[in-house]
Amino acid sequence: MREPVEVKASRSYPVWIGEGLLNRAGELVRERTQAKRVCIVTGEHVVKLYGDRLQRSLEQAGFQVLRFVHQSREQHKNLETYGDLMGLLARSGVTRSDLLISLGGGVTGDLTGFAAATWQRGVDFVQIPTSLLAMVDSSVGGKTAVNLPEGKNLVGAFWQPLLVLCDPALLESLPREELRCGSAEELKCAVLRDESLFDALAADPALAASEEVIRRCVEIKRDLVEEDEFDRGSRRLLNLGHSFGHAVEACSGYEILHGQAVAIGMAMIARAAAEKGICSFAAAEKIRAGIRALSLPSETEIPAAALLEALLRDKKRSGDTMNLVVPERIGSCRVEKVPVEELGDWLRLGGAR
Ligand code: GLY
Repeated sequence: MREPVEVKASRSYPVWIGEGLLNRAGELVRERTQAKRVCIVTGEHVVKLYGDRLQRSLEQAGFQVLRFVHQSREQHKNLETYGDLMGLLARSGVTRSDLLISLGGGVTGDLTGFAAATWQRGVDFVQIPTSLLAMVDSSVGGKTAVNLPEGKNLVGAFWQPLLVLCDPALLESLPREELRCGSAEELKCAVLRDESLFDALAADPALAASEEVIRRCVEIKRDLVEEDEFDRGSRRLLNLGHSFGHAVEACSGYEILHGQAVAIGMAMIARAAAEKGICSFAAAEKIRAGIRALSLPSETEIPAAALLEALLRDKKRSGDTMNLVVPERIGSCRVEKVPVEELGDWLRLGGAR
């Protein structure tokens, strides 16, 4: 097994990446904690696939194991599910020296992380992501949150995990559409920092679930988190494709999946950046072609006016301006502060009608 990627943040931790790690979870978690009890937090589908294997591995390492199984959809990442989890921890007498483990995708990871950040003012937690998106993005970097009816991720905390275990073998059970959504985030990492990763992914989309590509994306995410753990500067680059993407997602009533929306958002912002002279038309076209090579959408029929309305509601808007992440070339991006009255223009330059 190769060395883990080390993240040096307010708390430093290893991200292990390799096939078969789920079976070694107990041993690797034990190396990092004296906890007696662990609570596995997991979704109703993932628990059937991997819950028993994880529990066995933890028990063999001497942990007492509890389970909290939640409904898996994004709308269940809410205060009610969070309250149910808190109630279980309270009734079971889980203490501050015990441990939570997230086994699942981004919904489970965000919920578990927020519960860990707040249970008795903070308890350790481990991320075991089971989706590609969670492996390359949400499980690393310590952003945790739950949703309110008024918006996504409005209640949350920065709380870094004790360790992260990415086992690409778990991706074998992932629906193809979800794999593609994860590959959109990988392409985003490539546009941000690594043109050769971009070329490799576009040439061979099957590489998306490989250990090598996951490792490279985790390294890119690690670098951005280390530069700006609390998201006040360069970490915002990770929002490439997300401002227009969130608008597309919201306008579609969440019918368009997050990764698909990010892909559309990236293609649009690249085209707008080319029109504004920030990147070349060749780079924008290469980004669009890479997105298509990964069988992801690169445009939307949603009218510009509806997208603009959704953009203006975005929580990333700050007063009269919005930070848009724009490519300068493949491998380098920057944050552009755009006055809100110019957003409609950017959307139209990006191809919205
Ligand atoms: N998912 C974006 C970030 O972690 O900052």
